[in-house]
Amino acid sequence: MDVSAYLNEKAARTEEALEDYFNSWNGAPPQLADAMRYSLFAGGKRLRPGLVLGAAEIVSGDDAAALPAACAIEMIHTYSLIHDDLPSMDDDDLRRGRPTSHIVHGEALAILTGDTLLAMAFDVVSRAGNAAVVSEIARAAGVEGMAGGQVIDLLSEDKQLTLDELRRLHAYKTGALIRVSVRAGAMLAGTDTEALEALTRYGEHVGLAFQIADDILNVTGTEEALGKPVGSDVAHKKSTYPGVVGLDEARRLAEASTDEALHALEPFGAEAEPFRALARYIIERDS
Ligand code: IPE
Ligand code: IPE
Ligand code: MG
Ligand code: MG
Repeated sequence: MDVSAYLNEKAARTEEALEDYFNSWNGAPPQLADAMRYSLFAGGKRLRPGLVLGAAEIVSGDDAAALPAACAIEMIHTYSLIHDDLPSMDDDDLRRGRPTSHIVHGEALAILTGDTLLAMAFDVVSRAGNAAVVSEIARAAGVEGMAGGQVIDLLSEDKQLTLDELRRLHAYKTGALIRVSVRAGAMLAGTDTEALEALTRYGEHVGLAFQIADDILNVTGTEEALGKPVGSDVAHKKSTYPGVVGLDEARRLAEASTDEALHALEPFGAEAEPFRALARYIIERDS
């Protein structure tokens, strides 16, 4: 199973759909449209669209109905990266292999670019005509999701969190959007409760494994492969898995989460093979 080819195919269709949405917003101030494109079309692994479309495919064999959610979640994710890199937050100058939005466009436009991506994401996902999905995505980006997690992340700098507190921080800041990616895909394609529950467990476990791997790569990875700075978590005294439990135990816990994710897929057959490969890729990646 070639995970890169799988993600690339789903990324290409997501990007095509994003292009169509962009072309329909022709009244946007050009500087704003350019700044949105600069961050959105800058590579990125497109893991979340892969999960949205992949979940749809697993439950129904067809992912077309899930495309608006794939686009919307990638827009929200990109907004979260732009704001995460701001001087008032992680103060990073490299993202997706490029100077960060605020370095290129200035802080005010970077903030507004993020705001716009978040707002337009809801225009996009509302076109799928499923209010429950819109609501779940809103909550995953909100108080018990990404934004809430970013607040905990900032308040936890220079603090020694317990493992339970750290798990909650990661579940909010990264896990929620990954979990809702899987759920939105399945819900839009039409799923039974049992499959949705199994996929939800999968999303929760790969979400945690993904952020533990991100923490580990900040210590062991290279700026060249990651396209973003390394060593910054220690410099900013962030609460991370390597910081709280050490590198070896962090690796062990990431593997344990991956095992749980694979276990969650047991009700499925060959149709879930791409998700099995994706779970392994998430902890083995170098970018
Ligand atoms: C980075 O996410 C930020 C986290 C939530 C850990 P990704 O590693 O998915 O970033 P891109 O989309 O590939 O740039
Ligand atoms: C980012 O977390 C999570 C977001 C909600 C954007 P990090 O700050 O750990 O991610 P990177 O390492 O900058 O991508
Ligand atoms: Mg951060
Ligand atoms: Mg950061």
